[in-house]
Amino acid sequence: MAIERVGVVGCGLMGRGIAQVCAQAGHATVVSEINDDLLAAGMASIEKFLGKGVEKGKISEAEMQSTLGNLTGTTDLANFAGCDFVIEAATENREMKLEIFRSLDEICDREAIFGSNTSSLNITEMAVATGRPDRVVGLHFFNPVPLMKLVEVVSTMLVDDSVVGEVKAFGEGLGKVVVVARDRTGFIVNRLLVPYLLGAIRVLDEGLATMEDIDQAMKLGCGYPMGPFTLLDLVGIDTTYYIANIMYEEFREPQFAPPPLLRRMVLAGRHGRKTGRGFYDYSE
Ligand code: 3HC
Repeated sequence: MAIERVGVVGCGLMGRGIAQVCAQAGHATVVSEINDDLLAAGMASIEKFLGKGVEKGKISEAEMQSTLGNLTGTTDLANFAGCDFVIEAATENREMKLEIFRSLDEICDREAIFGSNTSSLNITEMAVATGRPDRVVGLHFFNPVPLMKLVEVVSTMLVDDSVVGEVKAFGEGLGKVVVVARDRTGFIVNRLLVPYLLGAIRVLDEGLATMEDIDQAMKLGCGYPMGPFTLLDLVGIDTTYYIANIMYEEFREPQFAPPPLLRRMVLAGRHGRKTGRGFYDYSE
């Protein structure tokens, strides 16, 4: 079965990017939010991103219009009936995600495939919340979704191999490079990235160097596109804290333990670019 019609649950930072790349690849795409205001904000941000793409000469006006034409917004999950593949990109909350999968299981055809963009929760638990554990995978995109080339496809011990193959082909059809990982918290990228980011916070807190110098060092010394503090602000300080806690709970290894400064940043409301202040100040 080729995946044609796609549903994306959530039109936040990740969901809007996922919906955009699906629509841009020619899929009829339905994207949902919990209320009209959040949906309108997500759709406006997709239009703005595409508009910038036209300005930069990356896409044509016609491509922008056909992408927008492939997109439908909804606040009702019932509109996912008829989707071949539904990608859940809701808030990183275990109970909420399980509830979404239970609802989707009732709404969608038995043959529909479900994917979760979770960065840290376990896919097996989501799979068994449905009556189709053989058709549930992880599909983990990276921020900013339209610009980042990678997608991780996550397979569980319950999934049918042919489903992993279909989702892999789908990811490649979006123009992404697909890697496959087993269902272990953090998959490949966050398993290695999170200890690195937490380590940067620890050495800043111990006074090793300024955050600007740590960022410069990792950018120019390792060829990374962004230093760790710029990246933390992009990913979100609250998101990183949340992921670190879950990884620590799973592996019980000190490298995943969230450092005290990270917790203070979360409590202080310095959540990164999205709040105007993280390690750096974006108020201007
Ligand atoms: N439409 C189309 N193309 C666009 C565009 C748009 N609206 N905006 C930018 N682009 C293009 C640019 O033209 C440019 O293309 P070129 O290379 O052919 O010239 C390219 O995209 C890069 O854009 P910019 O030049 O504006 O920006 P930068 O060169 O500064 O790159 C970045 C921005 C891609 C975000 C880069 O800094 C980067 O890769 N940073 C690291 C991000 C990262 O690590 N993300 C992963 C986070 S971890 C995660 O998400 C997992 C989660 O679970 C926590």
